Amino acid sequence: MNIRVFDTPSEAGVYAASLIERVLQSQEKPVLGLATGGTVIPFYRWLVEMAKRGLDFSHAVTLNLDEYVGLAPDHPQSYHAFMDQQLFSHINVARENIHVPRGFAPDLEAECDRYDEIIRRNPIDLQVLGIGVNGHIGFNEPNHTLLSHTHVVNLSKETISSNARFFESESEVPRQAITMGVQAILSAKQIVLMAFGDEKAEIIAKAFGGEVRTDIPASMLQLHRDTIIILDQRSASKLE
Ligand code: F6R
Repeated sequence: MNIRVFDTPSEAGVYAASLIERVLQSQEKPVLGLATGGTVIPFYRWLVEMAKRGLDFSHAVTLNLDEYVGLAPDHPQSYHAFMDQQLFSHINVARENIHVPRGFAPDLEAECDRYDEIIRRNPIDLQVLGIGVNGHIGFNEPNHTLLSHTHVVNLSKETISSNARFFESESEVPRQAITMGVQAILSAKQIVLMAFGDEKAEIIAKAFGGEVRTDIPASMLQLHRDTIIILDQRSASKLE
């Protein structure tokens, strides 16, 4: 595990974007695992800037980590809509190569199987992650066991209240999501986790300065052989 601390989230985003650039330029069919949320916005902004200057995504495949159950891709708070707005509509990725779990699927179990099959056919070269204040990655919430495959998860109280900032009110936040499992994440060749700000300092210290525990899912990344943790001064402040 390699930890890099930057002065600002935007400098960190530039560095993370350079890692994507390297994968795009070195692979014939690069597979990018992508995340949503506030943390990754400066990073996507920079990727869009690079795309304007010619960075080519035409041969890339993207696989998003998660989606809220019940929200169609055109629902403004869906993760699909977030990705369209922040990235996909600004780059030349082929629509058929974009994969986001279908939270609105009538048969969610079948949807999880379908998504695992897509992951199996497209081994992830670089997985981008954020981290929840409770230590979740994707929506693998703290638990005494973690699930390896794509599954439906009941969101924790902390996650619901933390994500309420993207909705009109907390009551509108979906209670469930579909998420990639821990195995798919850990199978990525390289993992890049970003976390910024004071509110992430405590969980960063626990996840990467302590033991590996299923009630801190991000701590599992300590077991991966090529993980880069990208922080700013604030999120790194409690790490020894
Ligand atoms: C989103 C995801 C989540 C977020 C995490 C941090 O696709 O998988 O694990 O990365 O909740 O969210 P922000 O960046 O909004 O603090």
